[in-house]
Amino acid sequence: MSQLSLALDTEDLAQYYEEVSANRQFRVGTELVAALGIAPGERVLDVGSGTGLLAAHIATLVQPGGTVTGIDPLPLRIALARQKNLANARFEVGDANDLSAFASASFDVVLLNAVFHWLPEKRGPLHGFARVLAPGGRLGISTGSREHRGALQTIKAEVLARPPFNQYPQARDGVPHHITAAELRDLLQEAGFIIRSLEIVPTRHLLPDGDAAVRFSEASSFGNFLGHLPVQIREQARQAIVEELDRGRTDEGIVLGGARVVAIAHTPSADGAPAQA
Ligand SMILES: C[S@@+](CC[C@H](N)C(=O)[O-])C[C@H]1O[C@@H](n2cnc3c(N)ncnc32)[C@H](O)[C@@H]1O
Repeated sequence: MSQLSLALDTEDLAQYYEEVSANRQFRVGTELVAALGIAPGERVLDVGSGTGLLAAHIATLVQPGGTVTGIDPLPLRIALARQKNLANARFEVGDANDLSAFASASFDVVLLNAVFHWLPEKRGPLHGFARVLAPGGRLGISTGSREHRGALQTIKAEVLARPPFNQYPQARDGVPHHITAAELRDLLQEAGFIIRSLEIVPTRHLLPDGDAAVRFSEASSFGNFLGHLPVQIREQARQAIVEELDRGRTDEGIVLGGARVVAIAHTPSADGAPAQA
């Protein structure tokens, strides 16, 4: 059972995400986009587009003639994406679990940047991506690695194991739903994708202090960071995590390490020959 909620987002979290993701998810996303070799004229589906920063970057790459469609279940983030008024991009409230609004073979590229770990069930969405991709179409996924926990995840787990927080256990694998590289390989192959590359990339994210690190996580998790706790003790848990993080603070600030799994895959080409990206 997943405890993920799509109802905890706020205007403040959405706006803050727009600011802080520029130096984190967006930067990492441009690497995913480069690895996908997105070219002028292509039709791109950005699943979990958030506030649309990465989609705006892709919108310039696909010109002339190309389009970007961004979908995200959070209306507040879609509203910020729409405010960008991009001529060749559109943004809709939508969900990776239901791509029925899109015709089969209607995209050249589907990408998920910092989104796949928010999907509790991954098989259905992957089959949906395969369906909406044209033959030889590319899929790019950059997602958190379960095998490489960062300092924040470790500290959060330690704090949540203390009373009174341990009376409110998270779902067994918690949220987000990180996966291993081997799991992603199996899932992609099961859905009919041909894997072009699959790698584990170490991450290093520097933040000024514990409060900034927690705020970043709250915005990135659209309010799910401690969302399973009753409101009355959420602030207490938050403070305990901030204190633990600040204990490890250096002159540089706080480094949130970890790793992401990055996969580039494609659907079989129309004639059955391996497609080239
Ligand atoms: C960390 S943000 C990443 C946003 C954007 N891709 C970026 O690179 O900045 C995670 C996003 O995943 C979205 N998300 C969560 N569950 C989803 C689902 N079932 N389908 C599509 N997107 C989802 C969230 O709404 C959120 O905007």
